[in-house]
Amino acid sequence: MVLLCDGRFVCGCADPYGKRVLGDARAGVSAVWTGDTASALRRDLNTGGSKFCGDCPLKLPLKGDQALSPPRRDPAVAPLPSRLYIECTAACNISCNQACCAPETGITRTRKAGMLDFDLFTRVVDEAAPSLVRIDFFNYGEAFLHKRAIEMCEYVKSRYPHVYLYTSTNGLAFTEDQARRLARSGIDEVTFSIDGASPERYARYRQRGDFAKAIRNLSALVDEKHGKGLDVPFVNWRYILVTHNDSDDELQRAKTLAGGIGVDRLCWEITDHPEDMFSRRFVPGTPDYDAIRHEIWDANNLGNAIPGAMPRARIELERPWLDGLLNRPLRANRGDALEIATRVTNLSTRPFPAQATYGRRLVRLGAQLCAGDGTLVNRDYERAWLPSALLPGATARVPLTITAPSEPGQYTLKFDLVSEGIDWFEACGSPTTSAPLVVR
Ligand SMILES: C[S@@+](CC[C@H](N)C(=O)[O-])C[C@H]1O[C@@H](n2cnc3c(N)ncnc32)[C@H](O)[C@@H]1O
Repeated sequence: MVLLCDGRFVCGCADPYGKRVLGDARAGVSAVWTGDTASALRRDLNTGGSKFCGDCPLKLPLKGDQALSPPRRDPAVAPLPSRLYIECTAACNISCNQACCAPETGITRTRKAGMLDFDLFTRVVDEAAPSLVRIDFFNYGEAFLHKRAIEMCEYVKSRYPHVYLYTSTNGLAFTEDQARRLARSGIDEVTFSIDGASPERYARYRQRGDFAKAIRNLSALVDEKHGKGLDVPFVNWRYILVTHNDSDDELQRAKTLAGGIGVDRLCWEITDHPEDMFSRRFVPGTPDYDAIRHEIWDANNLGNAIPGAMPRARIELERPWLDGLLNRPLRANRGDALEIATRVTNLSTRPFPAQATYGRRLVRLGAQLCAGDGTLVNRDYERAWLPSALLPGATARVPLTITAPSEPGQYTLKFDLVSEGIDWFEACGSPTTSAPLVVR
């Protein structure tokens, strides 16, 4: 659910003008989540579709067999949601070209209040926190125009540290001090939306936007994080590709700038709007798109356009030389423990952390169990810890012990690194290593 800044809940983030209202947060989160409107919506969806969905752009027609017998979800529902979007305000300090939330669309007039009431915010968070896994602290508009937005982030992370707190900002509503305070708030991840690497090109989509200010605030936030030795926030620069910012020169400027500032991740967003502006160069299926496919925001969760920062590893199995020579399979009796010696090398320019205070983004070696034909059987078959942070270019011995499957047969073990809670390295193009396994 999305909490709009006037206290109403709508059913998703694709509802800029508040047309699909589930209820009012003043009645309580659980009351809305399990209330008549949400329950009827679930019931209707289970029988093939709901009028409630109206013109929602996320609605997709059922295909083929699905249309004949719609997939059903268990109608029983948990008393509270696991994830919320929270909109502090629908107001914005810039006017993105032809955007549905640009101020001139009148979006703020579709809200009954301009700014989210702080007490209502705390009531919603207090009630939902026990079941919440994540809060997306943004929707339409610019969240940090709310005078108490940073205090809201502090409220969540000081009381409910288990909730993953994420925001997306244009970075233009902060003073540098406020950007630093946000870095100290405990927020897990901050995305700066900066669509260009030079002032004029940036401001053609982000109309009235001040490129220098966005970069100053991004730099201040990163500097505070590094200066204070903080693990979080993870800082993204998300760059929407449009016709006037998609040249090699402009992309290269963004890469250099992001690397110099110390941003964690730079990614390109492929969009299909505005119709007269989206990049024609990086259309899916073109060689240019293919060249950046691992660096695209939605393609995976690790890809990175900052030179050298793309996670890359080499995983070698240390086998007796004769085994290697004959490419003999690993062998084990069913249910037996099998110790496998590996060597892992960091081929990127960023260290692979072996630990993380917040339990995510630490890197471990994973063994995935596949059938003999390569079909995945168990992606999380076994894990092994890195002995310590693996620095760029360094190699570490990483022993990993698996329990052989209880069914005899031919299998394949696939080894890959995983950034815990984020993604497998393979998703952004890192090579994996496989070995046949025979279980007797
Ligand atoms: C509407 S903005 C509001 C949040 C905040 N003001 C910001 O700029 O990040 C939410 C997200 O939509 C993205 N966005 C804006 N225009 C877009 C477009 N034409 N195509 C795809 N994403 C877009 C932004 O980059 C941002 O991540």
